[in-house]
Amino acid sequence: MEPVVLVLILAVVRNAYSLPLFSEEEEYQFKSWMSQYNREYDMNEYYRRLQTFTENKRKIDLHNAGDHKFTMGLNQFSDMTFAEFKKHFLLTEPQNCSATKGSHVSNNGPYPDSVDWRKKGNFVTPVKNQGPCGSCWTFSTTGCLESVTAIATGKLLELAEQQLVDCAGDFNNHGCSGGLPSQAFEYILYNKGLMTEDDYPYTAQDGPCKFNPKLAAAFVKDVVNITLYDEMGMVDAVARLNPVSFAYEVTSDFMHYKGGVYSSTVCHNTTDKVNHAVLAVGYSEENGTPYWIVKNSWGTSWGVDGYFYIERGKNMCGLAACSSYPLV
Ligand SMILES: *[C@@H]1O[C@H](CO)[C@@H](O)[C@H](O)[C@H]1NC(C)=O
Ligand SMILES: *[C@@H]1O[C@H](CO)[C@@H](O)[C@H](O)[C@H]1NC(C)=O
Ligand SMILES: *[C@@H]1O[C@H](CO)[C@@H](O)[C@H](O)[C@H]1NC(C)=O
Repeated sequence: MEPVVLVLILAVVRNAYSLPLFSEEEEYQFKSWMSQYNREYDMNEYYRRLQTFTENKRKIDLHNAGDHKFTMGLNQFSDMTFAEFKKHFLLTEPQNCSATKGSHVSNNGPYPDSVDWRKKGNFVTPVKNQGPCGSCWTFSTTGCLESVTAIATGKLLELAEQQLVDCAGDFNNHGCSGGLPSQAFEYILYNKGLMTEDDYPYTAQDGPCKFNPKLAAAFVKDVVNITLYDEMGMVDAVARLNPVSFAYEVTSDFMHYKGGVYSSTVCHNTTDKVNHAVLAVGYSEENGTPYWIVKNSWGTSWGVDGYFYIERGKNMCGLAACSSYPLV
């Protein structure tokens, strides 16, 4: 058979299985990514994942060749479509985040040009990993309460996300299907305490509530919301008081964030669209672009050692829609 005919037949067969043509090099990159992230697939899934990986890798390369303030890179999500990622890792339903009038009272500054609570003392716990459960809101909550408690007492504890997943349902929270830090702080306030990570380990799935009041290790005296879209209120709180929890909308260009200041023209900026909660541990400015320093809950191999920077001052992706912190 003529080689050209053979190639045509192969192309037809591949199309029949709707596989794109990927190069040998792309398959090689996929295999080394698989070994780096310990992935194994059966034959069927292998080709499906290879296809998705190739599409992601091309998107990443195209982005990095362009002129952007942030870079993208391969990470643990590189074999997933955004639709799959969204289903497993983000908040699915719209959350009730509308503290139209918050109780945070700002003073008028002046504020330092940059603040980083990781450098002010032992106030921020290591980056954690939520796994395939829409529990970001619990990590934003524990991260904030851990820091606020450490600033008040000098003792940095790791607190239990799983208790919030399992027990905070009466406050409009829904375990792995979502919730909000402000509502989780309310739960801790009325429940009278949160246990430690060691005493109530994280399992990344919904389970029965196993709260033991005798082991409560951190407490909340009041919940402070920052007024809707008052991003300067967030600056005031982070500069003067402590890290703050916030929520924003993750879109497909964020999944492969690797470094630099994230800024997007794709995401929305309203309360009804927020789908991820995180923790602002500081802010700064680079080449005239102000940004937030943010602790995420997707492990340390994602982003900048588990952190990311996002443009500040524009309510980027709705980040000022739903911000709060506890008083201890
Ligand atoms: C804070 O906002 C939440 C909604 O995110 C609301 O349920 C709660 O009542 C507010 N708390 C205060 C003290 O304003
Ligand atoms: C929003 O609040 C309403 C009224 O409290 C509640 O019925 C609904 O379940 C909440 N939605 C979410 C996503 O928590
Ligand atoms: C959201 O973005 C639009 C378009 O850039 C802008 O006009 C609007 O003021 C923004 N709204 C908020 C609440 O930030």
